[in-house]
Amino acid sequence: AGVRPEFSRAEDGRFRVRVPVEAGTSLYGTGEVAGPLERTGRRVVLWNSDSYGYTDETPSLYQSHPWVLAVRADGSAFGVLADTTFRCEVDTGDGIAFTAEGPAFPVIVFEGQTPQEVITRLTEYVGRIDLPPLWALGYHQCRYSYYPDTRALEVAREFRARDIPCDVIWHDIHYMEDYLVFTFHPERFPDPTAHNAALHELGFKTVWMIDPGIGDREGYFVRDQLLAGDHGVRTAAGETYRGEVWPGWCVFPDFTRAETRSWWAGLYADFMAAGVDGVWNDMNEPAVFNVPSKTMPEDNVHRADAALGGEGPHAQYHNVYGMLMVRASREGIMAANPEKRPFVLSRANFMGGHRYAAMWTGDNVASWQHLEWSVPMALSMGLSGQPFAGPDIGGFIGDGDTEMYARWMGFGALLPFARGHTDVNSRDKEPWSFGPEVEEACRLAIRRRYELLPHFYTLFREASVNGLPVARPLFFDDPKDPALRTEDDAFLLGSGLMVVPQLVPDRTRVPVLPKGIWRPVALTGAGHPDLPEMYIKGGAIVPTGPIMEHTGERPLDPLTLLVSLDENGRAEGTLYEDAGEGHGHRAGDYLLTTYEARRRGDRVEVRVKRAEGDRERPERELRVRVILDGGAEVAGSGRDGVPVVVGLGGRGCRPG
Ligand code: NOJ
Repeated sequence: AGVRPEFSRAEDGRFRVRVPVEAGTSLYGTGEVAGPLERTGRRVVLWNSDSYGYTDETPSLYQSHPWVLAVRADGSAFGVLADTTFRCEVDTGDGIAFTAEGPAFPVIVFEGQTPQEVITRLTEYVGRIDLPPLWALGYHQCRYSYYPDTRALEVAREFRARDIPCDVIWHDIHYMEDYLVFTFHPERFPDPTAHNAALHELGFKTVWMIDPGIGDREGYFVRDQLLAGDHGVRTAAGETYRGEVWPGWCVFPDFTRAETRSWWAGLYADFMAAGVDGVWNDMNEPAVFNVPSKTMPEDNVHRADAALGGEGPHAQYHNVYGMLMVRASREGIMAANPEKRPFVLSRANFMGGHRYAAMWTGDNVASWQHLEWSVPMALSMGLSGQPFAGPDIGGFIGDGDTEMYARWMGFGALLPFARGHTDVNSRDKEPWSFGPEVEEACRLAIRRRYELLPHFYTLFREASVNGLPVARPLFFDDPKDPALRTEDDAFLLGSGLMVVPQLVPDRTRVPVLPKGIWRPVALTGAGHPDLPEMYIKGGAIVPTGPIMEHTGERPLDPLTLLVSLDENGRAEGTLYEDAGEGHGHRAGDYLLTTYEARRRGDRVEVRVKRAEGDRERPERELRVRVILDGGAEVAGSGRDGVPVVVGLGGRGCRPG
């Protein structure tokens, strides 16, 4: 096909690279963007910005991904990565054009027979996520903010009392003393160690926020260390830069320096020792209050490592500030808890930064419009290398209404990162806050996620190996089908399971679904109007497990395989399992099983086709649900590792 970049200078002197595309090509990616999945004919400006209440017209959100994925009419694909960290305009109006400030930059082109192959190539180049701890794939509950400690505990206990699964309770900025990071408010959280222990006792993990703005108060240890070690970002005049954020005047670590990153990493030792499980890095665009630019001056000076490009202006390092922060945070967390897998959530980031942190889509609005955008936003992140993404379920800004909250939770619980969160002054938004009907919808939606946990974990492992997203656009199923190119209401989890939510209030929009065999499958909450319909592809086997209060509650027993035969009466699927924590899996302590199913006359036999890894197959019950046309099914059971035969009872299994 031949991708030919054209290099030129724009009239204002900016360097420009344009890649023409042939007719029938659809463009995707460009990282964090609101609006539709297909990005052809759009313009974004890559400049990490605190964009409270953004819309699809907001030119810059919190993260920057100078990356466009192009899918040609024949289903083959290529991607273009612009190698610049400067402010960069990405225009997909006439081919693909990157126009950036700063020096000339190269572009890297990745070719593939399919879009999937291009994503695999991209992530081979920029890196892939590490397998997260299993608990991070559970449901998370947050608000700005749960305090004092008794309130956070009360929320946790409600989840257990109401039988709604949940793994994580989050601690937003009010836990700190005067918003000073690495401190705990003496009255609100007098004993964080005991508080974390109490939550652990109930089977919860805890995540706590750390921002980059360090309150400029004499005697505050982080600030004093920053100044003593000369770790601050400097002004053009060579002084330590000061800007306002939550604590008032702040100084900001220069994360472009190895020395500063290791100092910052070291701060996590004592913090994690209080029993903190995960860290939330926010405001790291970096956001600065009370200045029109909402960030630091572009002529501020970063004394960056030679390997990163050496000393340079903020204009050069702005877009990677958040990524370098989470890189340092992650290192510190790993040093503090070497036996555990780190979990970091970041608001700002840059292409490749998915190696260090998961993401959420920032300060969205409790509106039907934002509910709808939250699907394509997560998908676009996946197409930009970041599989671990999700919105504030229920919407951050404003109250929203009852119906909307239920619907949002209905599919939000099935996005890769599933967390409810809301703004400081908005109403309560826990799953039970909108009354018993919504509570029941949320209970079912979240339970469905836990039912699918073995599948989610298998997909995250896949993402760590080949970079493929966990939540995938429908066009992945058939990149040649033009009708799927713009469909962004529904999405795939892996390649064999399809989620079809209703994203408009009156449920009138009918998504275009892929051709071929897709059978409706009943998971927890099937038939509930606020939960998505689920379909399993002919030829797929999807592993599911028992519903539990939290991911650590019990082992995967029974293991239930959803089996959907293809036109030849065959199906195949994988299950990945390991300790769910720690690094033993790197040394072989895992079990990756490929199950296969075959129809023989009036029976379906399901057996282990292949297994990999040193971990022993658990002694457990294996249940098999063979999904037939129209949602009918036949079931059987046996022991895992031994073939299970399910009689079709004369019902056969027609294709289609
Ligand atoms: C901004 C973040 O986007 C939001 O999620 C958080 O609650 C507030 N900062 C307060 O920390």
